[in-house]
Amino acid sequence: MGFMALHVKASQIVSIFVIAQALNFSALLGQRDNFTYNGFIGSNLQLDGLAEIKPDGLLQLTNFTSQQTGHAYHPIVINFKNFSSFSTTFVFAIVAEMTNRRGPGFAFTISPSHIVGDSPGEYLGILNITNNGSSSNHIFAIEVDTAMSLEFSDKDNNHVGIDVNSLNSIESATAAYFNEKVGKNDSLYLSSGDAMQVWIDYDGVKKRIDVALAPMGVTRPRIPLLSTQLDLSLVFVDRMYVGFSGSNGVLQSSHYILGWSFNIDGQVQKLDITHLPPVPRRKHPKERHGETIGLTVGMVMIVLITLFAGLHIVRRKRYDEIREDWEKEYGPQRFSYKDLYKATEGFKDKALLGSGGFGKVYIGTLPKSKVEVAIKRVSHESTQGMKEFIAEIASLGKLRHRNMVPLHGYCRRSGELLLVYDYMSNGSLDKYLFTNERSKLSWMQRYKILQGVASALVYLHEEWEQVVLHRDVKASNVLLDADFNGRLGDFGLARLYDQGAIPQTTHVVGTLGYLAPELTRTGKATTKTDVFAFGAFMLEVACGRRPVEQQELPEKMILVDWVHECWRKGTILETSDPSLGDDYVVEHTELVLKLGLICSHPSPDARPSMRHVLHCLDGEAVLSEQALEGFPIDVSATTEVIGDGSSSVAASNASSPPQSCSVHTTTRGRRS
Ligand SMILES: Nc1ncnc2c1ncn2[C@@H]1O[C@H](COP(=O)(O)OP(=O)(O)OP(=O)(O)O)[C@@H](O)[C@H]1O
Ligand SMILES: *[C@@H]1O[C@H](CO)[C@@H](O)[C@H](O)[C@H]1NC(C)=O
Ligand SMILES: *[C@@H]1O[C@H](CO)[C@@H](O)[C@H](O)[C@H]1NC(C)=O
Ligand SMILES: *[C@@H]1O[C@H](CO)[C@@H](O)[C@H](O)[C@H]1NC(C)=O
Ligand SMILES: *[C@@H]1O[C@H](CO)[C@@H](O)[C@H](O)[C@H]1NC(C)=O
Ligand SMILES: *[C@@H]1O[C@H](CO)[C@@H](O)[C@H](O)[C@H]1NC(C)=O
Ligand SMILES: *[C@@H]1O[C@H](CO)[C@@H](O)[C@H](O)[C@H]1NC(C)=O
Ligand SMILES: *[C@@H]1O[C@H](CO)[C@@H](O)[C@H](O)[C@H]1NC(C)=O
Ligand SMILES: [Mg+2]
Repeated sequence: MGFMALHVKASQIVSIFVIAQALNFSALLGQRDNFTYNGFIGSNLQLDGLAEIKPDGLLQLTNFTSQQTGHAYHPIVINFKNFSSFSTTFVFAIVAEMTNRRGPGFAFTISPSHIVGDSPGEYLGILNITNNGSSSNHIFAIEVDTAMSLEFSDKDNNHVGIDVNSLNSIESATAAYFNEKVGKNDSLYLSSGDAMQVWIDYDGVKKRIDVALAPMGVTRPRIPLLSTQLDLSLVFVDRMYVGFSGSNGVLQSSHYILGWSFNIDGQVQKLDITHLPPVPRRKHPKERHGETIGLTVGMVMIVLITLFAGLHIVRRKRYDEIREDWEKEYGPQRFSYKDLYKATEGFKDKALLGSGGFGKVYIGTLPKSKVEVAIKRVSHESTQGMKEFIAEIASLGKLRHRNMVPLHGYCRRSGELLLVYDYMSNGSLDKYLFTNERSKLSWMQRYKILQGVASALVYLHEEWEQVVLHRDVKASNVLLDADFNGRLGDFGLARLYDQGAIPQTTHVVGTLGYLAPELTRTGKATTKTDVFAFGAFMLEVACGRRPVEQQELPEKMILVDWVHECWRKGTILETSDPSLGDDYVVEHTELVLKLGLICSHPSPDARPSMRHVLHCLDGEAVLSEQALEGFPIDVSATTEVIGDGSSSVAASNASSPPQSCSVHTTTRGRRS
């Protein structure tokens, strides 16, 4: 292109100059380039999108902005003509929004031009739906991928992969490194916020590429993480740009590059890791576990002195909370932190009932009334949304329904919110359905639970003075009281993480597998998105399985697809929970499965209202199977998996084509 420009008339000298500059004369002259950035102060990297260079020299590819990308390129185009090798190394860090809410990842890229027309989310800012897989891309990338997208056959949500023209990696491996000291592979958690180093070496003679990974400060492992045969001379054009692309979906991470070194036809220069800029810590320090520090005798002395001096201050501080004027009207529902602290004996681990996507749940006994309660600690930084949320829970505190977990009240401290619920002695339903922790429930018990939860939702949607959306219906949010009545808990909590009214920037919060497709596109929760989640929940209860099960056979992996397939073949009963044996009522089981399917309809208009669902369950209305006829065969055409095994997560899917619907999934299970 540059050579063509040289033939252009003199009147166009200005544009020649611009083009030549963009290509850089040194590249035109065929000079090989090598460069090293120990931090990016004073560098003139070419940035776009969210990318910026921080004052301390840190290259930030993305900040916490959803559905956007950021690119950074070395300013000089590199001459790859007849090259025989290249090697590069960089240090990166991924700081996730929260432990289980993180963006899709970033990539090191070599491309013929600055990448434009890319998509965020799982496309990692390097490709889009039209050009994925096309050999005219001439794109080579090493993806550092922290989301599992089934679309691209990702192996998990924590891997490194080699990509050529496509996001389906030709080779990928779960993040790990060979630890010389112990002689085995140690796994790495890419979005831990810790700095890690990547080495990429390509040998054009052997046509082999090696990619190694290790925590920063560890020497390059002898055994690379990835090593594969690849002829890049078939992929590259003569002049290529080298750089990085970071990408966010509805879930977000800050992707940082601390230092970078590159060389073509030669050994890469080592990075001086002592001079790299530091990685900013995550915003939610409470989520981080403190490191054990060996205390020397001197330090113990200092600590003791500080302890004594600070004791009375601490005594006052321990029970510090936040109260604002607007909260006055919620007075009766306000708990003092001191009482909650005493109730749980200082939030001891012993009192921990479990933890979910929003925080930890503790059991406690209120000091005055001696009532047993479950206290949920939600870490929350901003006051934005808090006022609305408290208004909502305060009003919900007043509503009582026999199938809802009663909410007693709340307490606010700096950076966290505490919610006080009735303690449900039989725990959450998921433990009965998917684990062997508890005995299995009989069909009658299950049916009663479904009716109960449906009536709670009808109450929230239609019978309370305003429409209340639950936003997070799922088995772990259905608790069982002493009589095994199903009671819906955690209402409205997802709202706390909703950030605003603009669909593009709205966080979609809920749990993958229960998120209606339109919710992930528009970000707007409605009663119909609750119905969708209830549909997934009905299938769960009847089949004794989670909505998505990675370990299952491919045809059974997405529960709703499998049930639908069996319905078409007339064998729908085969999907019911095998552990039920003969203990079920055929008509009821069929009804629940079909209702579950209809509620999971990709189109919100085709889903029934909660009232109709309840009527069907109660035998007061007849289910019309018509909606099932129009059910698309491949319900889960696009599926994106994010999350690391904990429960509630926000999900992104804006890059999927609007006509297809998606079932969002997570490998679920309990953190311990
Ligand atoms: N009111 C309660 N009574 C008894 N146990 C409870 C109560 N509330 C929660 N739990 C227990 O605490 C665990 C954690 O609950 P939590 O709500 O934090 O997680 P989750 O429901 O899995 O996810 P999410 O954050 O989406 O609600 C639950 O699995 C349940 O066993
Ligand atoms: C071209 O490259 C040289 C060094 O290789 C560099 O000094 C110069 O600034 C570059 N020019 C532009 C326009 O990027
Ligand atoms: C890098 O390039 C410079 C010239 O630009 C050269 O002097 C130097 O030896 C090269 N370094 C390596 C490690 O190849
Ligand atoms: C993220 O970066 C963009 C571009 O630099 C900026 O406009 C935006 O305000 C930043 N957002 C946040 C949350 O820091
Ligand atoms: C390509 O490089 C090799 C050595 O690296 C050299 O022998 C050969 O002549 C070069 N070919 C061209 C077309 O430049
Ligand atoms: C995909 O990217 C190409 C450029 O690489 C662009 O021309 C095209 O418009 C993009 N397509 C979509 C659907 O964004
Ligand atoms: C992307 O491209 C690869 C390679 O052609 C192809 O196998 C894969 O199915 C494509 N994926 C999507 C989602 O288009
Ligand atoms: C460590 O990982 C490498 C690369 O994935 C693999 O080849 C090797 O067999 C593993 N070694 C051990 C001891 O697990
Ligand atoms: Mg819950």
